[in-house]
Amino acid sequence: MTPSGRLNHRVGPNRDAPVNRLSAVVRSLLRRLRSRVRTTRASAWLRSHPSAASIIDRVLAEQLTYLEREALVDLARAAQRVRDKGIEGAIVEAGCALGGSAIVLAAVKEPRRELLVYDVFGLIPPPSDRDDADVHARYEEITAGRATGIGGARYYGYNDDLYTRVRTTFDDFGLPPGDCNTRLIPGLFEDTLKPPSSVALAHIDCDWHDSVMVCMERLWPVMQPGGIIVLDDYHAWSGCRRAVDSFLGSLNRSEFRIVKRTRLHIVKVRSGARQVSRIE
Ligand SMILES: C[S@@+](CC[C@H](N)C(=O)[O-])C[C@H]1O[C@@H](n2cnc3c(N)ncnc32)[C@H](O)[C@@H]1O
Repeated sequence: MTPSGRLNHRVGPNRDAPVNRLSAVVRSLLRRLRSRVRTTRASAWLRSHPSAASIIDRVLAEQLTYLEREALVDLARAAQRVRDKGIEGAIVEAGCALGGSAIVLAAVKEPRRELLVYDVFGLIPPPSDRDDADVHARYEEITAGRATGIGGARYYGYNDDLYTRVRTTFDDFGLPPGDCNTRLIPGLFEDTLKPPSSVALAHIDCDWHDSVMVCMERLWPVMQPGGIIVLDDYHAWSGCRRAVDSFLGSLNRSEFRIVKRTRLHIVKVRSGARQVSRIE
């Protein structure tokens, strides 16, 4: 972490120096240890939340999500956290694909809390020159019809009517959107993302720079103090990382706290609260 609080992911060590080789080994050990701690914590949480556990099991078994079990638990726990802290406001998901993570959110949230799920429900829009080669290579694969979906299934973006498929999946899980205060909002975020006046939790899972940036710009002003933004792709896609670094760099450092869980969490700081970034 840099003194400014931004993640110092760009600093690359000279891998040949013995001291750096040693520190690479230590870092790798720490990564493995952290990952083991997360898995253990996730398993303990799942044991004490059997109904959420069965939804997560089913979402994974039916290959409805790109998130692994620990990331789904991370998200479910974020929803629990805003509830336990009495943080009012909607839950927003930007980027649902087949709906897996949104279904987990719908299942764990309080019934009265609104869940707004935004997605183009079609082929992901193109990246921009603010995304690097990793993103462009993936997009080329998608548009060339060569992308495969979760577990080798058909890539979700090739589905003719993804909106109906996702809505039907919600019904199949006993969570019809109309009955559980959930709305699926189709279209590009640039056109549709006009969030309500208060948001407690946002799951931003939309891969590319411009999509992530528009979400950060529109959601940050309505995040409640103590509210959480979970960023799915910070460590996965270059453009997401760039958008988040650049957006956070435009804020006053006292306005947010970074918490590294299975995914990166940005917590809006309550005024007057102590501001400490930490790794969990
Ligand atoms: C990685 S997927 C979401 C995965 C999902 N949360 C899960 O549980 O597997 C990213 C989604 O974001 C959508 N998306 C990305 N940029 C978008 C934009 N600008 N407007 C609307 N949807 C967008 C894509 O079409 C895709 O459905």
